[in-house]
Amino acid sequence: MKNTSVTFKDSKKNGEKLTMLTAYDYTTAKLLDESGVDSILVGDSLGMVVLGYDDTLSVTMEDMIHHSAAVARGAKNALVITDMPFMSYQTSVYDAVVNAGRLVKDGKAQAVKLEGGIEFCEHIKAIVKASIPVCAHIGLTPQSINAFGGFKVQGKGKEEAQRLLDEARAVEEAGAFAVVLECVPEKLAKKISESISIPTIGIGAGAGCDGQVLVYQDMLAMYSDFKPKFVKQYAQIGSVMKDAFRQYIDEVKSGAFPSEEHTFKIDDDIIENLY
Ligand code: KIV
Repeated sequence: MKNTSVTFKDSKKNGEKLTMLTAYDYTTAKLLDESGVDSILVGDSLGMVVLGYDDTLSVTMEDMIHHSAAVARGAKNALVITDMPFMSYQTSVYDAVVNAGRLVKDGKAQAVKLEGGIEFCEHIKAIVKASIPVCAHIGLTPQSINAFGGFKVQGKGKEEAQRLLDEARAVEEAGAFAVVLECVPEKLAKKISESISIPTIGIGAGAGCDGQVLVYQDMLAMYSDFKPKFVKQYAQIGSVMKDAFRQYIDEVKSGAFPSEEHTFKIDDDIIENLY
């Protein structure tokens, strides 16, 4: 059954935990979908784990549309949520609606995600009014890395914790169907999850959230530039890939690949009569 923003909200009502992983291409999306994940996030983490930038700030609308459409082709049942990249919505409510619309029309997203709380509620309301479901994202919001001065846990002090709770309530009120909580202390994330009716999706926010999200290259140990504390590596796919690449290189160099089973045949007659 196709997951939607509505089934997402129902899951919270029914006390079912939600699963979300990122993907940026058709093959990975299909593998995730076949594994039964509830949602695929085409995150702007694309900038770091696929395009090799230091942060997410250089990612463009064209990048997001291109990768979102590829993911959507591979996602039969998972809800496809696509990130609004830096400066695609911060500039105005109008830009937010136009660009959310492009992610749906051209990127085939079923919903969009944007970073920010209270200050972006007008944007969320306008996008939702255009019938596009919005997932909010508060706590550590990587597009604000320059303002934060680094990747840091958010909401540890009394005022900051209250602010995050207020932000969560505000995005719910503005019409968001879910909210990502990134790098938030576990007890605060639990309090937020209990205080709002829309699902919270945690990343570095502990077990009290209504669901969890991870970047797939992180959970498969494929991205080695940076390993946040909250990442659990479920498999060492990076090493498996490197071993396979090395074996291929050795076999090509030694002549062991390709062998008989990987080659096509032709009658000797034909070859002998060529001039
Ligand atoms: O871009 C992304 O992958 C994200 C997740 C880390 C939540 O926003």
